[in-house]
Amino acid sequence: MYVFNNKYFPVPEYKYKVKRKEIDEKTYGEEKEKEFLPTFNKLVKEYKIKLRQDKEDSFLDKWYTQHIRDEIQFVFDEIKKIKNADTKKIVSVILSRTIRSCRATTHADLATLLEPITATYYCGKHGKMCKPLFSILKWWETYSKDTVKRLAQYDKLRKDTFHTCLTGDSRNIDLVGGLYKINPDFAELVEKQKIKGIFSSPPYVGLIDYHEQHAYAYDLFGFERKDELEIGPLFKGQGREAKQSYIQGLSDVLNNAKKYLVYDYDIFLVANDKYNMYPTIAENAGMQIVNQYKRPVLNRTEKDKGAYAEIIFHLKSK
Ligand SMILES: C[S@@+](CC[C@H](N)C(=O)[O-])C[C@H]1O[C@@H](n2cnc3c(N)ncnc32)[C@H](O)[C@@H]1O
Repeated sequence: MYVFNNKYFPVPEYKYKVKRKEIDEKTYGEEKEKEFLPTFNKLVKEYKIKLRQDKEDSFLDKWYTQHIRDEIQFVFDEIKKIKNADTKKIVSVILSRTIRSCRATTHADLATLLEPITATYYCGKHGKMCKPLFSILKWWETYSKDTVKRLAQYDKLRKDTFHTCLTGDSRNIDLVGGLYKINPDFAELVEKQKIKGIFSSPPYVGLIDYHEQHAYAYDLFGFERKDELEIGPLFKGQGREAKQSYIQGLSDVLNNAKKYLVYDYDIFLVANDKYNMYPTIAENAGMQIVNQYKRPVLNRTEKDKGAYAEIIFHLKSK
């Protein structure tokens, strides 16, 4: 494939030609895809590569080639033997991050999985032929090194403050109650002094099914799925009812959060509000939008899908 790519998709000439419309990317890509397929099929046969698993019951069955699945299982079994609880958690996160990158999807559909791929394909993101992965090793090494680097960096930056994560439905989560279980002193402080502000990036209406996007981790670690609690999931679409339920969901979140906030709070919400729903949401929560900042989103994983801008809404009490 390396030789084939060098010959038919030379860097950077190929992309220049596409840009100047000297090459029609779609036709050329499809043509080369067909041309390379027999070579791929021959190699798959020769090296006895098993592209699909026998079952398709779970996410891990469906979205991983047999070899990848075997490696994931191997690492998972090794992790079980780790005695130090902190190390175990870190290595688990590295594995989770690794297998996210090893799903049998094309590079263009990382965020919204379509169908598992089993062959080489023309990749618009990289402007060449790409193939499904046969091993997790490359990502495992990359993310292991990267995680260690980030941890060291964070260790230098962190201050002597307490922070934690509480998971739950933000429409009704009991923040103080949850904190009491982890750090009673801190919970008391929050109850007395209240919270100064919120910075959040809520889901957008009908764009992503987050459970599906992280299905590999639910499967691997045996977490309980709670799809029905997602606000604005893709499966509900962007119709009238979906928008209504989104507005209701976000309003409930803000009303729940208000209980824990100081009088003069600041809330910042990052949103791609193409349906202009945030004025209503703010109204429902007794808040006002005092400022809006535009934030261009340039570096998305699926590079071909165009840049867009998001708004950061600054909300305060009415
Ligand atoms: C745009 S993402 C932002 C995620 C995170 N802030 C980040 O930057 O990585 C929106 C998140 O809201 C979560 N979400 C959806 N409904 C929720 C609910 N009812 N309660 C809490 N979180 C929810 C989704 O699962 C998703 O992780």
